[in-house]
Amino acid sequence: MSVENEYASLDPLETRIATHRKFSERADDVEKAVYDHLRERLGTALLDVGCGTGTFLRRLRSWGYSGELTGLDSSSAAVARVRADGAATGVLGQATALPFQDGRFTTVTARHMLYHVPEPEAALREFARVAGPQGQVAVSVNRARTVPGVTALVERQLTVHALPSTSLAGSTDSERLPGIMAEVFPHVRSYSYENALVFPHADALIRFAVAVLGVYGLSVDSTVRRSVIEGIRAEATEWFAANRVPWRDPKGYTICIGRFS
Ligand SMILES: C[S@@+](CC[C@H](N)C(=O)[O-])C[C@H]1O[C@@H](n2cnc3c(N)ncnc32)[C@H](O)[C@@H]1O
Repeated sequence: MSVENEYASLDPLETRIATHRKFSERADDVEKAVYDHLRERLGTALLDVGCGTGTFLRRLRSWGYSGELTGLDSSSAAVARVRADGAATGVLGQATALPFQDGRFTTVTARHMLYHVPEPEAALREFARVAGPQGQVAVSVNRARTVPGVTALVERQLTVHALPSTSLAGSTDSERLPGIMAEVFPHVRSYSYENALVFPHADALIRFAVAVLGVYGLSVDSTVRRSVIEGIRAEATEWFAANRVPWRDPKGYTICIGRFS
C-alpha cells in the first residue's frame, strides 16, 4: 500500500490525533509547540508540508498569524480538506519536488511526515530551497519505538495472520533528524518532548491500535482486516481483565528548527 492509499481517508489520522489529545499523560500540544519555536520569525508566507487534516493551518489563524498560508500534501483527501476549510491554499504535491520557486516562503513546517519520505535529505533540501536564506524550517518526528506496547500488540496480530509486520514508516526518528538537518542548515536547534499514552480502558486502546493498521500497509478492504481487529480486541480486553490498571505506553518526539542565519 502506498502512502497516498494510507491517507486516502483521513479518519485513522484523526483518530490518532484525538487519542494523543485525550490520553496523553501530560498535556501535550505539538502544533502549539512548533508555533512557539517559530513565532518570532514567521514572516509573510508559511508552507506546511504534509498538512494532513489542516488543523495547524487553521490554528495559526486563530493564534493571530495574518500572513499567507499554504498546505501541501500528497493525499488528495488532505488537499480537499484544506481547500474546503478556506484557511489556506491547498496544493497536491510531493515533499521532494515542491512546486514552488526558490525563497517563495518565509517559514516551512513539516510535522510528523518526514518518516514517510524515502529520501528525507532530498526533502530537507527542498524545504531549505523554498524557505530561502532568510527563512526557517521546522520538522518534527517521533522518537524511535514510540508507543512500544501498542506497536507490539499490532505486530503480534499481524504476524498471527501471516501479514507483513514491518511498519511502512521509515527510519527518520528523533535520533536521526538532528544529524540530517545539520547537513542542510548551518544552525539547528532541537527540542525533545517525552510523554506517554495512558489508556484507562480497552476500548480506547483498541480504537488507537486499529487506527495504526494503515501504517503497516493493511488496507480497509483487506479480507483479513476484520480478523486482525478481533485479535487486537481479544488481546486488549484480556490484558485489562488480567491487570486492572491503565495501559501506559511511553512516547516522544523531537522538533528541529533549521536556519541559515
Ligand atoms: C502522520 S500524517 C501528519 C499530518 C500532519 N502534519 C499532522 O501532524 O497532523 C503525514 C502526512 O504527510 C503526508 N505525506 C506523506 N508523504 C508525503 C510526501 N512525500 N509529500 C507530501 N506529503 C506527504 C500524508 O499524506 C499525511 O497527510
